[in-house]
Amino acid sequence: MFMKREDIEVKIEECIDKAKRYKGVGEVASYIPELKNVDEDSFALSIVTTSGDVYNFGESEKIFSVQSISKVFTLMMALKDNTIEEVFSKVGTEPTRYEFNSLIPIDQRAANPFINAGAITTTSMIYGENKEEKFNRVMELIRQMSQNSEFTFMKDIYESEISTTDRNRAIAYYLKSKNIFDQNADEVLDLYVRICSIGANVESLAKFGAILANEGFDIYSSNLIVPQNIVQMTIAQMASCGMYETSGEYLMKVGIPSKSGVGGGILGIVPNKCGICVYSPRLDKSGNSVVGKNLLKILSADLGLNIFL
Ligand code: DON
Repeated sequence: MFMKREDIEVKIEECIDKAKRYKGVGEVASYIPELKNVDEDSFALSIVTTSGDVYNFGESEKIFSVQSISKVFTLMMALKDNTIEEVFSKVGTEPTRYEFNSLIPIDQRAANPFINAGAITTTSMIYGENKEEKFNRVMELIRQMSQNSEFTFMKDIYESEISTTDRNRAIAYYLKSKNIFDQNADEVLDLYVRICSIGANVESLAKFGAILANEGFDIYSSNLIVPQNIVQMTIAQMASCGMYETSGEYLMKVGIPSKSGVGGGILGIVPNKCGICVYSPRLDKSGNSVVGKNLLKILSADLGLNIFL
């Protein structure tokens, strides 16, 4: 059904109003000390449609730490740089009921690319002569997918995480002991933490999401940017594993393939419609933004975005 821009804006604002009842619920992440230094109740939403329309609300310019949303970037890079068989011989495709930084879902390999062990694995599969080149290639991909939107490196977040990330260090060494990769484990870990420390605003991420929603084609020039099999596998993994141990319940209630990060962002993809990014840093126990997941649920119902309906 065709709707005027003003009418769509009013509908989205009504959804935001409904989600206000979740304001103040949950805690900001503190296990990475620097992540505490945010305004706990800040809020932003961006929806970018596959026809190129941009709808921004709240603090849409605010840069926040993407954290695990970057696991989407890393999976895409691993799939670009290696064959599909190579990638999925090193990392599985199954959801897990264990928390994102658990060592339990690493049997012969990590359960999926969206838990920490899986993303450390895909990080080890990014091509480049050195760390800088690998990191720059990730930045190039996300800039290309977001019409050169602003993405930054948040040095304070990186330093805070790299000096406290003992659990991920254990995971990296364990994966190396299993011959999942043969590079230096500290180097792989460093690149993983750097990529988690990328900063973005909701509009940059929603634009990135809109390319995935648009089957890999640029929303303005229609050039193919990402091969369609990579788009399809990335969205499928977001649907099954993107919200950690709550992925099944979230998919059932919200019906939008999504990926969360402990920085407070959630990126959602509605194929052939739009990319959505919500930012609100208070998290539930699994590490998902409370306002974010509830707003996505309301938007899904009220704007007809559930992929199963
Ligand atoms: O490795 C970590 O623990 C963080 N850099 C990322 C975790 C994360 O974002 C989990 N998300 N909900």
